[in-house]
Amino acid sequence: MLEQLFIDKGNAYLLKSKDLRSTEPLHSLKFMYLAKDYFVRAMLEDNVNVRYAGYAQYKELQKESWDFALNMIANSGHGADSGSSGSVSDVEMSDDDWPNESIVKSNHKFDDIIGYDYIKEKFKVHMIYPMVCDMPFKINAPNTILMYGPPGCGKTFFIGALSNEIPDGDVYYIDASNILSKYYGETSRNLSQIFSKVKENKNNVLFIDEIDALSMTRDSNDPVSNRTLSTLLTQIDGIDKADINLIAATNRPDLIDSALLSRFNSMLYVGPPDKKEKEFIFDLEINKQIEGHMPDLVVADIAHYMCDKELGGLKYSGRDIRRIVTNVLEIASIDYVVNGSFCIDNKLFYQMIDESIPGISSKSLEIYDDFRI
Ligand SMILES: Nc1ncnc2c1ncn2[C@@H]1O[C@H](COP(=O)(O)OP(=O)(O)O)[C@@H](O)[C@H]1O
Ligand SMILES: [Mg+2]
Repeated sequence: MLEQLFIDKGNAYLLKSKDLRSTEPLHSLKFMYLAKDYFVRAMLEDNVNVRYAGYAQYKELQKESWDFALNMIANSGHGADSGSSGSVSDVEMSDDDWPNESIVKSNHKFDDIIGYDYIKEKFKVHMIYPMVCDMPFKINAPNTILMYGPPGCGKTFFIGALSNEIPDGDVYYIDASNILSKYYGETSRNLSQIFSKVKENKNNVLFIDEIDALSMTRDSNDPVSNRTLSTLLTQIDGIDKADINLIAATNRPDLIDSALLSRFNSMLYVGPPDKKEKEFIFDLEINKQIEGHMPDLVVADIAHYMCDKELGGLKYSGRDIRRIVTNVLEIASIDYVVNGSFCIDNKLFYQMIDESIPGISSKSLEIYDDFRI
């Protein structure tokens, strides 16, 4: 049976093509263990978020050199891009001479995120209200929030929106796997520098994406990783006095070191969208991606059809929905150019849904259930 390794920036999946349901989510960090940091580095250098690789090649990768990894990534090409990983999606990173983090610039706001009202509320209470209103009291607890949940459900997207909601202060973004692999050996120093920089303005927010990459270290005998975790803990403890806000995100809360976990005041679950939310995300993406009115579409029925496809605990994410809308547009464009006509209707959406695999496996959802207990 042909097996494929599907990799995206924060996640990797072993695809068994005969039975797509058996897709198993692995995590990039496992790759750092399996393939040292070659693979993560290769992805970063290649600057492409999603690639496919043969399983045999992947095994080779564990033995082979950095050059091999780069080569393999460059030449692998079962072609299909699954859509961008979206981990920084429409969050634009500004150029900065700072090597490891960037100030988030984005053009969306909380209203562009469907659902998750409890998370928006939390951000407002802890970060926005104190900036816009002279509060008669101050919440003294450090603002440390961990967002966790399956890939593609909007964790990173939230940060772009937050950057547009806070009136005074910047949101700094760092990708933990990036900082660990690309600047291996200097990670600890870089982390301290980033915290210092963010602390320059008490209204700044630091967002650490895929934070498990920085914290999965107690098990390892790697001194660099252990030092990184210690630095991170010390820096977070310093937040209390500095008054800044820390938000972190992860798909794998179960891998996070318990000392680090205990530093987060709030842990917020960002789960898969329900039927109504799917409908709204479809609506949003259709409006975003298609100019012009689509009178033939009954979006509620598309969301309904999608829910019916979620068998065996598999779930579609917001990112899956975005990709399906893109796929529909691709087909319509080809039709228009080749045949001179096109039709964007529910049937075409159903067809694209039939051809897609939900990005969230039931196994991965179990992780979050266990974590919540
Ligand atoms: N609730 C949502 N509302 C609107 N768009 C969403 C939502 N969830 C996901 N998306 C879309 O999916 C993309 C991927 O989400 P992302 O934030 O990268 O996921 P995560 O960080 O949780 O893996 C986003 O850029 C956005 O376009
Ligand atoms: Mg993300």
